[in-house]
Amino acid sequence: MSQPNYESKWWGYIYDQMMENLQEIVDNNMHFYQANLQDVSGPVLECACGTGIFLLPLLAAGHDMHGFDISRSMLATLTRKAKEQGVADIEQRISVQDFQSFRYDQQFAAITIPTNTFLMLTTQAAQIKTLQNIYAHLAPGGKFLLDIRLAGLRDLVEAPIEIQGQWYTWKHPETGLPIRQRIVGRQDFNHQLTLDHCFIEYEAEAEDFPMTGRWIFKEEFQLLLRLAGFQHWASFGTPARDPLEIGLEETRSYWIVYKE
Ligand SMILES: C[S@@+](CC[C@H](N)C(=O)[O-])C[C@H]1O[C@@H](n2cnc3c(N)ncnc32)[C@H](O)[C@@H]1O
Repeated sequence: MSQPNYESKWWGYIYDQMMENLQEIVDNNMHFYQANLQDVSGPVLECACGTGIFLLPLLAAGHDMHGFDISRSMLATLTRKAKEQGVADIEQRISVQDFQSFRYDQQFAAITIPTNTFLMLTTQAAQIKTLQNIYAHLAPGGKFLLDIRLAGLRDLVEAPIEIQGQWYTWKHPETGLPIRQRIVGRQDFNHQLTLDHCFIEYEAEAEDFPMTGRWIFKEEFQLLLRLAGFQHWASFGTPARDPLEIGLEETRSYWIVYKE
């Protein structure tokens, strides 16, 4: 199992509010997934579907969406939103599962991992097992779509030893009371990890938990794809398929990976 990231109940409460502040990224990503699922008519699996920011609109657009996530709290928010939108069969479409061990008794025409989530796999073994699992669950002729932020050498070199994030205030969705949250992080160059730690304050409660990510380079990701059995892919710098130019800074990338 990879290390815990979003399993804390607090993420399910605050994630959508955080993403509202990143609306441009969400819109870009949505454009990428919508455009590349247009010609897909079979079932689609979103790995780590979270609160359904992508799963629910794609379902409403007519795609046969399924999803899993390790966090019950994120899926609880997804379920609440789905019910508000009148989705009657949401329980049959989502489940609590892990990237490395998820199992379905069907294959999918497309599998997606939106919002940089591949970086939450914190070891090479977890990355390879996950990609092998995705390969096994893709139907022949299917495609695997994902967006990932590729590491930038300058960003890594110039990163401070410890990043002290600012405090944010979010609203508890049930009580309306403020939830205060901040992240403190540092890089672990030995293991290619970002060791973030999240602090939460709510009424008399205080909680903190790790949120570990692993940075990745373009060539490294391609090697992982090969190890999992993939042979063909295309990568882009924007959802509109502009070329992927790697510079010194972190680069957003969009991937279409094909299974023969
Ligand atoms: C950045 S959020 C993305 C959620 C959703 N896909 C979206 O784009 O809004 C990352 C999600 O990955 C889930 N996650 C992290 N590690 C996981 C694992 N090992 N297996 C399954 N889900 C995982 C978290 O619970 C969280 O919901």
